[in-house]
Amino acid sequence: MNDFKESVLQTNPLQEEVRMEKLPDPCVMVIFGASGDLTKRKLIPAIFDLARQGMLPSNFAIVGVARTPMTHDAFREYLAGAMKEFGGLQDSETALWDNFARGLYYVAIDPSVAEHFAQLKKELETIDAERGSSGNLLFYLSTPPSLYAPVTKNLGSIGLQRPRTPENWVRIIIEKPFGIDLSSARALNADVLEVFKEHQVYRIDHYLGKETVQNLMVFRFANGIFEPIWNRTYIDHIQITAAETVGVESRGGYYEQAGAMRDMIQNHMMQLFALTAMEPPVLFDAQQVRDEKQKVFQAIRPIKPEDVHKYSVRGQYAPGTVGGKSVSGYKEEKGVSKESVTETYVGLKFTIDNWRWADVPFYVRSGKRMPKRVTEIAVQFKKTPHHLFRTMPADSLDHNNIVIRIQPDEGISLRFSSKIPGSSMRMRPVTMDFRYGSSFGGRLADAYTRLIFDCMLGDATLYARGDSVDVAWSLITPIHEGWKTNKNSKVYEYPAGTWGPKEADQLMKTDGRQWRLP
Ligand SMILES: NC(=O)c1ccc[n+]([C@@H]2O[C@H](COP(=O)([O-])OP(=O)(O)OC[C@H]3O[C@@H](n4cnc5c(N)ncnc54)[C@H](OP(=O)(O)O)[C@@H]3O)[C@@H](O)[C@H]2O)c1
Repeated sequence: MNDFKESVLQTNPLQEEVRMEKLPDPCVMVIFGASGDLTKRKLIPAIFDLARQGMLPSNFAIVGVARTPMTHDAFREYLAGAMKEFGGLQDSETALWDNFARGLYYVAIDPSVAEHFAQLKKELETIDAERGSSGNLLFYLSTPPSLYAPVTKNLGSIGLQRPRTPENWVRIIIEKPFGIDLSSARALNADVLEVFKEHQVYRIDHYLGKETVQNLMVFRFANGIFEPIWNRTYIDHIQITAAETVGVESRGGYYEQAGAMRDMIQNHMMQLFALTAMEPPVLFDAQQVRDEKQKVFQAIRPIKPEDVHKYSVRGQYAPGTVGGKSVSGYKEEKGVSKESVTETYVGLKFTIDNWRWADVPFYVRSGKRMPKRVTEIAVQFKKTPHHLFRTMPADSLDHNNIVIRIQPDEGISLRFSSKIPGSSMRMRPVTMDFRYGSSFGGRLADAYTRLIFDCMLGDATLYARGDSVDVAWSLITPIHEGWKTNKNSKVYEYPAGTWGPKEADQLMKTDGRQWRLP
């Protein structure tokens, strides 16, 4: 684990201040898998957004790498089309795009073949000289995950991981998924760290780039009123939900191997969990924030394979109705086996063994084909210790709660009881609501824009560190094992358009609680 510490010591304690004031250094960004879906739908629109905001260095270039034969011009044209489709490119932005497109290059090689990297190195030297990008390199692995280790190795075999001078930097962003279980994640970490130092490695989890997720830290740590009640004395439990209305669409083949646990829980949900539960860091920098998150992961009580049926519920969507439309069940989707036991829904109960959270359960759920698309963190407070208003039945009094809406309809609400006007003492819950849209106007920046910009600045605060990926997998892998071996654990069907199997309700009911209806 020494490598992880090393990275941390090299981060700048004043990163955030620097980030606000500085433009990134000149650099060449090399995207492996540049003919793929992610590049056209997310990466190029995100980077062009930086150009729109004047946040790119002038000596900047993007080099797309993939096997599909394409010239530089064909690549530029292909991405111009993608920008119209996915990046909102306007006719009025032609000059800005043309300028940006001059910095787009394409190198057709097979990134899995080591011998092809000599050509890549040569082309990078030429482009670097042409663009004046001073030798700084940012690699982005947007290939299928099976290529992450080979591409890293190939970069190392030709010395492209080493900065040209002590003033230069070389960084690498690695897409999700980072492994499919603990041993594969460890093997990938080892392969990557054989070539790169931890401080060069940026494991992306795009949830961490979302404004609302970053605001979770501001909400907790820049306000005096919430932190004192953010603990077991006042909080009854916390529910973290990520619900989608869509099914697996064209990704059936991928999803069969992943399931909701690998696709959503191990990465995004565990990151939200850690940000909700962590102690206040001393500084807002990569070391302190990631150290505090790591302590949360280490304090989560592991769910043993023999106990999975007590703490987890798996579901798979059956035919049903979503948004008034009939939709087919998961087993009927393209690329999915008729005998599939892949979970499209997971509900979990976690416990944290530390002073702040002892006896406060964290319920985490994620599902496809739910009635509503919503990601939120709901903090449910304890009821008042004394029932003063005796004309109201005690169980009619609501819990107070704070709900942090990550997406859509981004914002935060506080729910509390209020007296209904009139001569009798009757009450009902009311909500105070903060909405990003009405408070700040405009649209929120895409998570990839923020994260790529941070990487260019060398700020890894919003990226997952190797040790936290490791510990997150060490919590998830025994659950997967239990699902395979524990006879009491089953996959329950739920009709598409419902909030998951009824067995998931039971998970809460046994604790005298229930899932929120977001
Ligand atoms: N798409 C998304 O929305 C999304 C979201 C989150 C994470 N990710 C992750 O981001 C990565 C890229 O996603 P993607 O959807 O863009 O993937 P993709 O379209 O499947 O693959 C990207 C490119 O990699 C190249 N490639 C595929 N198989 C190869 C092989 N065997 N050898 C060498 N090159 C190969 C292909 O280009 P050539 O055939 O031209 O070589 C392809 O265009 C994946 O790891 C994915 O898990 C994607």
